[in-house]
Amino acid sequence: MQITQEEFQVFSEYIKSNFGINLTSKKKTLMTSRLNSVIENHGFENFMEYFHFIEKDSSGESVIELLNKITTNHTFFYREKKHFEYLKNTILPQLKITEKNRRDIGIWSAGCSSGEEPYTTAMILSEFFGNEKSLWDTKILATDISTSALLKAKAGIYAKSSLSYLPDMWRMKYFVPHDGEFMRVDNQIRKEIIYRRFNLMSNFPYKRKFHLIFCRNVMIYFDMSTKMELVNKFYDYLEPGGYLFIGHSESIDRSQSNLQYIQPAIYRKG
Ligand SMILES: C[S@@+](CC[C@H](N)C(=O)[O-])C[C@H]1O[C@@H](n2cnc3c(N)ncnc32)[C@H](O)[C@@H]1O
Repeated sequence: MQITQEEFQVFSEYIKSNFGINLTSKKKTLMTSRLNSVIENHGFENFMEYFHFIEKDSSGESVIELLNKITTNHTFFYREKKHFEYLKNTILPQLKITEKNRRDIGIWSAGCSSGEEPYTTAMILSEFFGNEKSLWDTKILATDISTSALLKAKAGIYAKSSLSYLPDMWRMKYFVPHDGEFMRVDNQIRKEIIYRRFNLMSNFPYKRKFHLIFCRNVMIYFDMSTKMELVNKFYDYLEPGGYLFIGHSESIDRSQSNLQYIQPAIYRKG
């Protein structure tokens, strides 16, 4: 079934105002194909009937289904390696000194998708702290709006082929074989991550501030004003001297933010 221009507009306005995601008309074909199976399963006559169903559904289930369809969850282990090197070589050595009394490091993977980003981060932390790891609280908060991505993240099961960017040693050290072609992240690393469903357009409910926030390849779907509002919220939730990592294809309008530019895709609260 094809979506009409009017229907597309109704859906895209709803999605933008509630979830920040900006579906430009280039996404029309993609959206039609992703939503057609939902329309068929529910037996709706057209996209408007589907939209009214979402609006009336107070359980929230249909919005979850919609978001699971429209979000792009592409990610992989060790993505944008420079960030992880910077974390290991610069941020963690700094924090080891400045946080030596509290021994509590706050990291948030905002838009974590299926977990490869927070798991890679946990492996970096484990490598950095080594035997001292148990003396530090380095739990990582990992949030996403997509429940299907979070389900995969929590399970921590990945095809062997998807681990190819990780150092060989890590594959042996941090994974256990699972059902032939798969590997499962081992429990030591899995228990380092706290997964939560969270819409970045909502008020942040967090009491703590973070030393590092990852929000990579998420804001590419937002328009400039939504993005800058979010970046300024991240600023408020960073510890003094805390870092924000964004995707390498993204940028921040520095005239609208107090964040300091450090190097491509790395910003810091002064
Ligand atoms: C392409 S993935 C990025 C994953 C990872 N950060 C990386 O760089 O590989 C983008 C993720 O952002 C999530 N997302 C999009 N809009 C969101 C919102 N309003 N709140 C929370 N997560 C959102 C999507 O569900 C998706 O999993």
